[in-house]
Amino acid sequence: MIPKSFVQYLLNRLDIVDVVERYVPLKKAGANFVACCPFHNEKSPSFTVSQSKQFYHCFGCGAHGTAIGFVMEHAGMGFVEAVEYLAKSVGVTVPQEASNTSQHKVAPDLYELMQSATRYYREQLKKNQRAIDYLKGRGLSGEVAARFGIGYSPDDWQNLKAAVPNYQDAGLVETGLVIEGEGGKRYDRFRDRIMFPIVNVRGQVIGFGGRILDKGEPKYLNSPETPLFEKGHELYGLYQAQKAIRARQQVIVVEGYMDVVALAQHGVEYAVATLGTATTPYHVQKLLRLSEQVVFCFDGDKAGQKAAWRALENALPQLVDGKRIGFLFLPEEHDPDTYIREFGTEAFEQLLDDSLPLSGYLLRELTAQVDLRTPEGRNILLQKAQPLLTAITAPTTALLLRKEVAALAGVTQAELEALYSIKPVAAPPRAAPPKAKRSTPSGLRTLLRCLVMRPVLARELPGDWQGEGNEGAAIAALADWLRESADETTSAAMIQHFQGTSYEVVFASAQGEVIQWGDDFDVQAEFVGVLRRMRLDVIESESAELLAKGLLSMSESERSRLAQLKDERRQLKEQVG
Ligand code: UTP
Ligand code: MN
Repeated sequence: MIPKSFVQYLLNRLDIVDVVERYVPLKKAGANFVACCPFHNEKSPSFTVSQSKQFYHCFGCGAHGTAIGFVMEHAGMGFVEAVEYLAKSVGVTVPQEASNTSQHKVAPDLYELMQSATRYYREQLKKNQRAIDYLKGRGLSGEVAARFGIGYSPDDWQNLKAAVPNYQDAGLVETGLVIEGEGGKRYDRFRDRIMFPIVNVRGQVIGFGGRILDKGEPKYLNSPETPLFEKGHELYGLYQAQKAIRARQQVIVVEGYMDVVALAQHGVEYAVATLGTATTPYHVQKLLRLSEQVVFCFDGDKAGQKAAWRALENALPQLVDGKRIGFLFLPEEHDPDTYIREFGTEAFEQLLDDSLPLSGYLLRELTAQVDLRTPEGRNILLQKAQPLLTAITAPTTALLLRKEVAALAGVTQAELEALYSIKPVAAPPRAAPPKAKRSTPSGLRTLLRCLVMRPVLARELPGDWQGEGNEGAAIAALADWLRESADETTSAAMIQHFQGTSYEVVFASAQGEVIQWGDDFDVQAEFVGVLRRMRLDVIESESAELLAKGLLSMSESERSRLAQLKDERRQLKEQVG
């Protein structure tokens, strides 16, 4: 757990302009910086970065966030990863909260050991003709081998003695490079293998896959899970592919190291591989953050079919409306490597264009072995579809697929939802709460803009403050948060805090509106003014309500309340001056 206060501290230490510029060149435009948005395709720049407010906002696609959010979106890093990366870049260490500390502590020297080993294996490749011939035989150029840092581990038990200062270093066992046998005898894990370094999105080597040159078992030997390397989180080739994925807004997921490398050899540079594991929801989430379209392309055999279905199951909870997931099924005897070598890039990209959309694949498999002409068949369809349909959270996708399955089964969408005990997707808008006439929407809008300009102002709201609708709820949530948090709070800290909550969108849209406002704008005065106007509105409506009863039929307390309101109103009017 990263302490919240550290996130604020880090945001204060960073300059979002520096951070964004590591990835996207920015141009100064008035008070802000602009660029063509890296998150969608556009010709004129609508991506805006505010240095004074420390957040970015795209007027085209609505992308919005802090320096941390930017790195997460742009490099596909997780929150912890992004915080660690950014902290390192400004030379501060991430403190760990008491819970699960040991888990994330990674000594920098573990990375260095991996780096030394990578360098060593690459040098050894140059010296070993048999290994060079093997790679040539598989159609790889020296250029592509270098791009992926491919190396060779010689046929000896303690090669790495030559690569690191101390073969007894505990880190060598911790990184999985060396195995300690009984009696403490050490030897290299990788011997006489082609070495594929596994690199994280920051470009650090975190593991290896080692392929045997001839026939033998296992064909691939992989680094074990280590403090650096978590298989379900990493994708082979993502570091090298990032740029191409972004440019093309498409990524291909394949099964093997050699598939990624062979595709790159043929100019298909936007492919990544899972590391001998099934595609995890985490993988899907990471890839959907990077691009508009993810295509799974597994081997044509039975195992490939199974892997594709697992990928579909794990993708369902991660689906995002408007983004596409496709499935490409190769002819049975092929994998992407053999296919592109035999038929070429154009043929492969044609297959990609014709990939089966997730919904098509889902429906095809669901209806494959059932006879929809009989009630029993339709019953089976409904049973099989239940776990799949209920896993989808993207509203439009969920809606469309529910409709499709319902139609196939001959029931209505409502019947299907009742059967599965799931909420209807297209829920009618919630009725406004009864105490609706509290303050006018235009007042709320203005108030919200003031608060996103300077969040600390929310501390000055009355303790029982309430407002209607999404905006009112968001303001109340902001005030609650600030009452608990003692620190001086910036727009960036606020964005970070509310990320992923139901208030995120309301705040983002207000922040987008104020990003152009200069800093000489008198927020304080505007804030006081709007609060006064809103309070006056409340007084007017409460007074009108009382007066409607008629003075004579009012109770004692109602009459004194009316007088009180009148007083307050006079005072407020005087303040305007
Ligand atoms: P495949 O058996 O499909 O091999 O394994 P491949 O990728 O086509 O390899 P080449 O073309 O024969 O060199 C696919 C992936 O499964 C994992 C590896 O990640 C491999 O790339 N695997 C496979 C292992 O981890 N260990 C193995 O022994 C075999
Ligand atoms: Mn292969």
